[in-house]
Amino acid sequence: QAVYLSDYTPPAYLVDEVHLTFRLAAETTRVISKIRFRPNPEAQNRDFFLHGEGLSLVSAMIDGAAITPEITPEGLRAVVPDAPFTFQAEVEINPAANTALEGLYMSNGMYCTQCEAEGFRKITYYPDRPDVMSVFTVRIEGDAPVMLSNGDVVAQGDGFAEWHDPWPKPAYLFALVAGDLINHPDRFTTRSGRDVELNIWVRPGDEGKCAFGMEALKKSMTWDEEVYGREYDLDIFNIVAVDDFNMGAMENKGLNIFNSSCVLSTAETSTDANFERIEAIIAHEYFHNWTGNRITCRDWFQLCLKEGLTVYRDSEFTSDMRSAPVKRISDVIDLRARQFREDNGPLAHPVRPASFVEINNFYTATVYEKGAELIGMLKRLVGDAAYRKALDLYFERHDGQACTIEDWLTVFENVTGRDLAQFKRWYEEAGTPRLKVSDEFKDGTYTLHFEQETPPTPGQEVKQPRVIPIAVGLLGANGDEVQATRVLEMTQAAQSFSFDGLAARPIPSILRDFSAPVILERDTDNAERAFLLAHDTDPFNKWEAGRALARDGLIAMIREDAAPDPAYLDAVQMMARDEALDPAFRALALGLPSEDELAQSLFEMGVTPDPQAIWQALERLRNTRAKQIEDLARELYTAHQVTAPYRPDAEQSGARALANAALAMISRVDGGALAAQQFDSADNMTQQLAAWSCLLQAGAGDAATKAFYDQWQQDRLVIDKWFSLQIVHASPEHTAEAASRLANHADFNIRNPNRFRATFGAMVTSPAGFHHASGKGYRVLADWLIRLDPLNPQTTARMCSAFETWRRYDDTRQTLIKAELDRILATPGLSRDTTEMVTRIRGV
Ligand code: ARG
Ligand code: ZN
Repeated sequence: QAVYLSDYTPPAYLVDEVHLTFRLAAETTRVISKIRFRPNPEAQNRDFFLHGEGLSLVSAMIDGAAITPEITPEGLRAVVPDAPFTFQAEVEINPAANTALEGLYMSNGMYCTQCEAEGFRKITYYPDRPDVMSVFTVRIEGDAPVMLSNGDVVAQGDGFAEWHDPWPKPAYLFALVAGDLINHPDRFTTRSGRDVELNIWVRPGDEGKCAFGMEALKKSMTWDEEVYGREYDLDIFNIVAVDDFNMGAMENKGLNIFNSSCVLSTAETSTDANFERIEAIIAHEYFHNWTGNRITCRDWFQLCLKEGLTVYRDSEFTSDMRSAPVKRISDVIDLRARQFREDNGPLAHPVRPASFVEINNFYTATVYEKGAELIGMLKRLVGDAAYRKALDLYFERHDGQACTIEDWLTVFENVTGRDLAQFKRWYEEAGTPRLKVSDEFKDGTYTLHFEQETPPTPGQEVKQPRVIPIAVGLLGANGDEVQATRVLEMTQAAQSFSFDGLAARPIPSILRDFSAPVILERDTDNAERAFLLAHDTDPFNKWEAGRALARDGLIAMIREDAAPDPAYLDAVQMMARDEALDPAFRALALGLPSEDELAQSLFEMGVTPDPQAIWQALERLRNTRAKQIEDLARELYTAHQVTAPYRPDAEQSGARALANAALAMISRVDGGALAAQQFDSADNMTQQLAAWSCLLQAGAGDAATKAFYDQWQQDRLVIDKWFSLQIVHASPEHTAEAASRLANHADFNIRNPNRFRATFGAMVTSPAGFHHASGKGYRVLADWLIRLDPLNPQTTARMCSAFETWRRYDDTRQTLIKAELDRILATPGLSRDTTEMVTRIRGV
């Protein structure tokens, strides 16, 4: 039941217009469609097939005459004229029973839709593929006070609203929302003078949580005009917040629908990190208007065409709004945690996959985040000016089209005259390249020797050399830069690059700004790392040097029971007290590699990771560090208290991040005394949550846990935090119990993906707890995935990736996990989504 990219054929019929009427009723919504079809001159057959799943067909007509089409579980087939014709149908659907949150469903009494990727077929019969684009007119009938769809409103009256979207779009961008909603309104005037009405629609009671999101939207609109020359193209832009949502948000034309956690915010209920994420997601969805909607994907294999580019654009936006180095470092931490993990396990797949069973399983870190890295590499290879030219040409040439990666690369080839055939391998071959480097100095010439190798991934045994942009700078012994950043373009399996005219052997700073998503392997010593941490002018590599010191020290602690590395402890102190450095950067540099990252490194070295030992080493290092730099931590804590009124901007967030990193160290020494003070006096969620987390860590959190609940029990997004943090901070002995206990709490709701993730997502981010030797973590997760699957296959399937690292572990753990994978697979009626994920993870 897999679909292959190589089997693509153009659609048999194209759609000129669609008229939809919705008669809303919770359990019996009628959808009446009138679709103007025309044979596609490019088509290879005349088979008239419309997708449709779970629909009750009431009637169907072609050119006004009733027909009796053939109905299959996947859709409808009919005999049609060999000329343009009108297809009409009436179907009945049950939004109230739709717990999968795909198609038309209900969330807190409000109707809403999620159609990407293939949800429109659960609404009515239609060619539900992105290369069929059409103009939609939508009439909504019902008693909801607010009824929205795409485009501009053309008529409105008692019990109905009519919307028209003039921009042709694929069905996955269709959206409808109806309910008792309140708007936070604003306006924006585009560069060419279009006056746009902006709204964020929320449930009554949430109207005070929209201001920041609205500012983010206006900033995004301005930024896209200034940086990409892209303007908004309708008179209304609506955003709606929905509590039950499988993903973060969705870019439906003119009617973006958001998981409420990705748009609602107040200082009291949201952390600095929440604010930054909300700003980025609002930008992301808005940017899709050009990269996704005006230019969409030909088929779902091309998903990275819109997602990689849009993630890249939103990361540029965040870099411009906040700190570029901090954003880059955070993105690389995330890339390694999620994408490298995926790329080096059984779920590895190319940025553009060649086949899939269920497309919803491919909204992955590889398609999104590695997809964005490919755009960054391309830009680095061609340069900023050529990148901008290529994007202009892309928008001009492909506006209104459904495109492929080939179209995208051709634009760059045309603009630069480069041959991008080798670059395309990045899209087609899975796996993270290992880049080995050694160096040599002779007669004033310094040479770097590189070798690249990508290990096999499922279904791809042999990998070819890729083009790798390697940004390199050279430092002199006193820390001066003897060679500014230069991008070396590696194209061979092994290749050397020389720098001459040097007075002495330089210290190399390699892969600056993380110029390619590869694993850099270099034999080096702590002295060099400490040197780079102190002197590198590239902020990313400066951070990276500290990270490597920490990681190697931890690995020695885990493997040889070594003591914490004094070189690391010295270096980190020096860096933490360097007032020339941005506090946000210092906070990041105080971070340590995660348990999972260490497990990945050990496995990479041929060592079977022991989750318990990894956790212990981290604890030991944190405790030693806290004792050793307590005084410094207290200084930092005091020096970085924010006294100005709360603002979630980069400056204040950075100060709080550093102060709270210091608080975490202090709490390991004072048993939580200072954290308790901060908890009691906090007037914003960042401070409150940081303090509570330190208290939990110190084993002194009970009173705060209760107080937090009492204070916030009416706020579901804060209660999500209340669920996760307790599980994250449970001791590894009790992680599984904490998750089960909370899953049985009165506020747990299996139908709400945010709450489910707050519980079980938290459990699996604690490897020592999840991988408890008894297997209880595995059992609890499998139990709940089996329960969730019949209700919500998409969210179940996503969470299966908790098991994707199972091959790293010892035989006992592997046997335990395999038994759980088999138990999930043996569940009668298991969804296609989950079946595909578990099968791929398990392997044969
Ligand atoms: N296109 C959306 C975004 O990137 C994600 C929606 C994915 N939905 C899904 N069911 N797979 O913002
Ligand atoms: Zn997206």
